[in-house]
Amino acid sequence: MSYENILVDVRGDGAVRTGLITLNRPKALNALNDGLMDELGAALKAFDADAGIGAIVITGSEKAFAAGADIGVLAQHDFVSAYTSDLITRNWETIRTIRKPVIAAVAGFALGGGCELAMMCDIVIAADTAKFGQPEIKLGIIPGAGGTQRLPRAIGKAKAMDLVLTARMMDAVEAERAGLVSRIVPADKLLDEALGAAAAINALGGPSVLAAKECVNRAYEGGLNDGILVERRLFHALFGTADQKEGMDAFLNKRKPAFKRA
Ligand code: HXC
Repeated sequence: MSYENILVDVRGDGAVRTGLITLNRPKALNALNDGLMDELGAALKAFDADAGIGAIVITGSEKAFAAGADIGVLAQHDFVSAYTSDLITRNWETIRTIRKPVIAAVAGFALGGGCELAMMCDIVIAADTAKFGQPEIKLGIIPGAGGTQRLPRAIGKAKAMDLVLTARMMDAVEAERAGLVSRIVPADKLLDEALGAAAAINALGGPSVLAAKECVNRAYEGGLNDGILVERRLFHALFGTADQKEGMDAFLNKRKPAFKRA
């Protein structure tokens, strides 16, 4: 499939490689429109279905991961058109269905829907140039792709309220301290760092990686009892995999594991 708003590549040289998606509307700071979100969803699904791909990295440009939903498009909507066309839900939620780990590599602006997109990823790695914010309030709207829900979960109510109500941006250091970002690296090392994290995941057992992501998402999205139950069931289930036998045997015999991802 050919894409107009994203660049798609495969990186790494092992049997299991990394799917790399680069948001590519540079003139609009990667503002997110239907064309881009449809293509992003299609590329994510294709990588998720590809047994040769272990993890996926989404990145933007040096200046912007994404400066939000395309305001030119949003401005054309009224309530009825937004509601009846299922604005946002119809093509923003594909990423939530992806089972393999998705890493956001963020440089520059990650604002509005761009910040929300980063928060939908499993790991956020930031360049020291990254700036995060939910400035929708300045447009007379509120975050619409989960920002009011994921931001307080990620950084707590106090900071989430501050960002959502004042529209101020936070830099990479504040975002890392607050818990939105797991690592900060110099901008010129961003892609290498994200691809390195993906390569580390690619070298692991396949079923355990899927199970780990599923379980952490239960902690993030649901209640404690429900999450503990899912964790326990998947923990038990992994004892039926070849990768569990291999991983433990390798440890006990002081050798490197050769995972079959099965
Ligand atoms: C459409 C955008 C855009 C956006 C930037 N551009 N952000 N176009 N939608 N979200 C365009 C500008 O119009 C401009 O086009 C070009 O990108 C460069 O932007 P500048 O403003 O000239 O750059 P700069 O002065 O460096 O300022 C960068 C910026 C600013 C601080 C990121 O662009 C900005 O505030 N953007 C809007 C951020 C925002 O409000 N995001 C939330 C959107 S609402 P031209 O043609 O003039 O060169 C949202 C709702 C989410 O995300 C709901 C669910 C999806």
